[in-house]
Amino acid sequence: MNEKIENLLEENRKFSPSENLVNNANATSDWFTEANEDRIEFWKKQALERITWYKEPTEVLDDSNAPFYKWFKDGELNLSYNCLDRHLETDADRVAFYWEGEPGDTQEITYQDLYERVCRLSNALKKLNVGKGDRVAIYLGMTPEIVVSMLACARIGAVHSVVFGGFSSEALADRINDAQAKLVITADGAWRRGDIVPLKENVDGSLSLTEYIENVIVVKRTNQEISMVEGRDHWYEDITKNESSECEPEVMNAEDMLYILYTSGTTAKPKGIVHTQAGYLTGVTTTHHEVFDIKDDDIYWCAADCGWVTGHSYIVYGPLANKTTSVMYEGAPNAPDEKRLWNIIEKYKVNIFYTAPTAIRAFMKWGVEHPQAHDLSSLRLLGTVGEPINPEAWMWYHQNIGNEQCAIVDTWWQTETGSIMISPLPGITDTKPGSACGPLPGIESAIIDEKGNEVGKGEGGYLAIKTPWPSMLRTVYGDDQRYIDTYWSQHKGLYFAGDGAKYDDEGYVWLLGRVDDVMNISGHRISTAEVESALVSHEAVAEAAVIGRSDEISGEAIAAFVSLIGTDQGDENLISELRQHVSDKIGPIAKPKSIVITADLPKTRSGKIMRRLLKDISEERKLGDVTTLANADIVSELQSRAIDSDDE
Ligand code: PRX
Repeated sequence: MNEKIENLLEENRKFSPSENLVNNANATSDWFTEANEDRIEFWKKQALERITWYKEPTEVLDDSNAPFYKWFKDGELNLSYNCLDRHLETDADRVAFYWEGEPGDTQEITYQDLYERVCRLSNALKKLNVGKGDRVAIYLGMTPEIVVSMLACARIGAVHSVVFGGFSSEALADRINDAQAKLVITADGAWRRGDIVPLKENVDGSLSLTEYIENVIVVKRTNQEISMVEGRDHWYEDITKNESSECEPEVMNAEDMLYILYTSGTTAKPKGIVHTQAGYLTGVTTTHHEVFDIKDDDIYWCAADCGWVTGHSYIVYGPLANKTTSVMYEGAPNAPDEKRLWNIIEKYKVNIFYTAPTAIRAFMKWGVEHPQAHDLSSLRLLGTVGEPINPEAWMWYHQNIGNEQCAIVDTWWQTETGSIMISPLPGITDTKPGSACGPLPGIESAIIDEKGNEVGKGEGGYLAIKTPWPSMLRTVYGDDQRYIDTYWSQHKGLYFAGDGAKYDDEGYVWLLGRVDDVMNISGHRISTAEVESALVSHEAVAEAAVIGRSDEISGEAIAAFVSLIGTDQGDENLISELRQHVSDKIGPIAKPKSIVITADLPKTRSGKIMRRLLKDISEERKLGDVTTLANADIVSELQSRAIDSDDE
């Protein structure tokens, strides 16, 4: 961490918002003044202004049973109503999504269209015996049906659990079992760089590992042969086409569950992060309005996947509740070539573009000729999320995508926080390349030391949130104790984010990456324990240690060290088999980039694997003190073997 801090300290460039932004931004400094005067009143105002309620709440925050906070607890509302119905009277023909399929097919979906599709699916779900409180797994690519499915669940009060299409059968089954989902919505396949991700086949694999699923709804997308089981599997088209395009929304309590989204923690078992209705909607609508400075005629593009929280908050709920016109793209950024995203920006005249640093680093590698081949002058605001952005990538984004004219918002938040917490505000903040700047109005963050004391300017420590906020997670599904242990046990009353952070001399916040055993691979969270557990489930493996090592493009890359049963020799075939095994267990995103086979793993005398040492070896750093090593010889052996076993 120290090395990173030193690098960041050298970054002194500052960029002030343009006059146009200062004069026209949605959020002014009054927002900070109001929130600082009375945070609760600030959030109450947002909730009452931004949400259409069936019954307005009389209480804002109930903190009587901390950390099980409740927001707006006697309010009643429906999120699908807030995203759709309420816009129809004036804006039925407004485009909700310009959808662009990877093969080049397109759809223009108005708010009226989206409403009707959602109602049809809602009615079909009800006929399949899905009701309020039931869990529905959604395992789809980025076609409009993923949005429709989420909103249909919200409409009838079912709880959605979207599982990223890159996860394997087993990972899907684990999530279905944990949530006891009774129905899964999937597709025959998803397009990915011209290939088909066999979604239905994966679902079939997971169904042999779970007994909860009663029905499967299948969207037709890629048209290859798939197997359909009579009575259990239903084509989406068949079960929705004769349904009514009206469906009365369920009246939901503010604290009813909206969704579960699984994310990696420090153990092998992913956590089901629970979000509820009104606080979540307050958080996402407020931040979407203030951070992206959304205007009525803007074309907005959040280039994330709905399988992750960014898609939930900033493709679906925030933008739709704010009546935004969005672009939604199905496929890979380099399909058919590296110009695809820039082509889409030019085609739809996108004004606001939100992506991840890992994507920006890939764009840098692909070359400026690709963005330069397109007219990107419609852009006025750029965002990033998911991992620390290095100043070089920030400057490249600023110069080559923003043409030095755009505000850049580096937004820090998490699946758990539900909405953006730390970010510049486009009309107010002077930005620095690589810094997320500071907490948003109504958010009280702190950087603390080991003892829980706040550190001062120029100092680093752990990022914490001092007071509850509306879109916070409510618990870990089925495991209240894990919720308390993971987030609220380090320092009393403080939410522990798991990130290292630092203030510079002016008090700007710089994020420094995870401080726990969670890796950040291309902005995706994967725990070292998950990959280790997948590796040791292979018959040849005795022990495994996994670390994230720094990587030029993906931020971190997965490096694994394994010892084998009965031998210390393995070959390239075994290494490929192990990589495939991890992919089968978790998904292709968790494939180790390198695997080193070793007779033994470096451990302390108490038997703890020395991850720091493995990380140093992988990154070819000079080794630190190894005197606590029980098996010191292993170091030189590992060093000689720490090469990429596969660079694909
Ligand atoms: O380590 C932080 C990093 O991503 C983690 C949250 O991951 P996830 O729940 O998957 O959500 C990602 C999208 C919101 C954080 O703990 N992270 C996220 N945004 C940033 C970031 N690190 C640095 N800068 C950011 N802007």
